[in-house]
Amino acid sequence: MPEFRPFSQDTLRPLVGLKVRDSQTTFVASNLMTMAQSIFESGSEIYGVWEQDTPVGLLAVVDMSHPDADLDEGDDPDGIYIWRLMVDQAHQGRGHGRAALAFAKSLARERGRSNLIISVVDEPGGAMPLYEEFGFRPTGRIVDGEVELVMRLF
Ligand SMILES: CC(C)(COP(=O)(O)OP(=O)(O)OC[C@H]1O[C@@H](n2cnc3c(N)ncnc32)[C@H](O)[C@@H]1OP(=O)(O)O)[C@@H](O)C(=O)NCCC(=O)NCCS
Repeated sequence: MPEFRPFSQDTLRPLVGLKVRDSQTTFVASNLMTMAQSIFESGSEIYGVWEQDTPVGLLAVVDMSHPDADLDEGDDPDGIYIWRLMVDQAHQGRGHGRAALAFAKSLARERGRSNLIISVVDEPGGAMPLYEEFGFRPTGRIVDGEVELVMRLF
């Protein structure tokens, strides 16, 4: 079971060094881009996914209830949005992705949020099957070209 550690100055370089496969680069932004964008994304939180001393992935969420959260019409403030999820190409297929979804779900539950939200590029090789198997269901909305999925928690 990996650990989820809040992103810090010390872990910046190891996390920037993580990469998805070449065929997956259209599914998720680079970790460096996520870090840069987080400066302007109110309510965002970045976690490194660690297996002991080895960085294996990155999870970023946005707490939609943050007073300055940039909500679009129809967005639910009572939710945690999984903004970015990636597992390094050398560490995929070992359960880290599913563990990251479980971590985000427990985070949302601890905070009493009603919904866990994610969006996905619905293309072959994408993560849609993983998310549906985990329990997410489409909301019917397409947000920035991605299919939005939700899991109701309460
Ligand atoms: C999606 C991703 C985070 C999953 O991480 P992971 O650590 O490989 O996932 P897990 O090992 O927990 O896999 C869980 C299950 O989902 C399946 N799965 C994982 N990625 C999948 C994919 N892209 N397509 C279909 N199934 C997938 C696995 O086969 C596994 O099923 P199994 O346990 O029955 O074998 C990782 O593949 C990744 O970083 N992909 C590129 C970036 C991306 O697409 N991010 C999501 C943006 S919305």
